[in-house]
Amino acid sequence: MGSGCDLRKGDVQGLPGPTSSGRKDSFENHYANLKAMTCRRGALIVLEGVDKAGKTTQCNKLIQALLENEQPAEMMRFPERTTMIGQLINSYLEKKSNLEDHTVHLLFSANRWEQVPLMKEKLEQGITLVVDRYAFSGVAFTSAKPGFTLDWCKNPDVGLPKPDLVMFLNVNPSEAARRGHFGTERYETSVFQRAVQQRFEELMKDSSVNWQVIDASRNIEDVHADIKNHTIEAITTAMTQPIGHLWK
Ligand SMILES: Nc1ncnc2c1ncn2[C@@H]1O[C@H](COP(=O)(O)OP(=O)(O)OP(=O)(O)O)[C@@H](O)[C@H]1O
Ligand SMILES: [Mg+2]
Repeated sequence: MGSGCDLRKGDVQGLPGPTSSGRKDSFENHYANLKAMTCRRGALIVLEGVDKAGKTTQCNKLIQALLENEQPAEMMRFPERTTMIGQLINSYLEKKSNLEDHTVHLLFSANRWEQVPLMKEKLEQGITLVVDRYAFSGVAFTSAKPGFTLDWCKNPDVGLPKPDLVMFLNVNPSEAARRGHFGTERYETSVFQRAVQQRFEELMKDSSVNWQVIDASRNIEDVHADIKNHTIEAITTAMTQPIGHLWK
């Protein structure tokens, strides 16, 4: 699979050729047009929702659908547990270690920041990134703990690459819990998940973010169809826009 910056036959056919005068600048214009048409950036697509809302299922299906349509796409997830910071987070989530609440919040944020160079590189190569949880989960989870404001929680993530689209998979937390038993990880309780859902609802009031609420109580295929449509629209819009900065 090539990147979005690959030159395709169709791209060349639609472009005006150099003028008969053969002037140098017309060749340069021609090349610039060609580059603009072929080096379009990928879109940053995020799926959010409470535990078991279907995020991972839908990220996988979306990647598969995009690749089948010859749209370069890759999946990412947060937390990214494979890095050194990710391993600290993993140990905390698995309750093998305890960390102070502010500290763990900052580690989750750092775990996103450490992926930013890679994210930008991929987006600029024309690869659409489908991301399983992002800063919104980070903020919703910490601010569901006593003593944390939404503002304090948002601060460390201000300036991250701004998603072109955030789809919130909306399902009643108790219904989501019935889909699969909660495991033994931290945060996997119905009471906490209800608090997380409320914090997500607060975050969705912010119109500077392109939120789409998806009814995720439907069957997997219907949810997928909805997600695919929103994604195609976001990819088209993102092509012509620079990557934004979250909450800035
Ligand atoms: N629309 C749906 N209807 C019924 N079951 C679903 C639906 N979507 C996903 N599931 C099932 O629910 C379970 C949880 O799905 P999934 O792992 O995708 O959720 P998640 O949001 O990624 O969860 P987590 O937050 O724990 O990572 C899986 O067994 C999956 O097959
Ligand atoms: Mg998942």
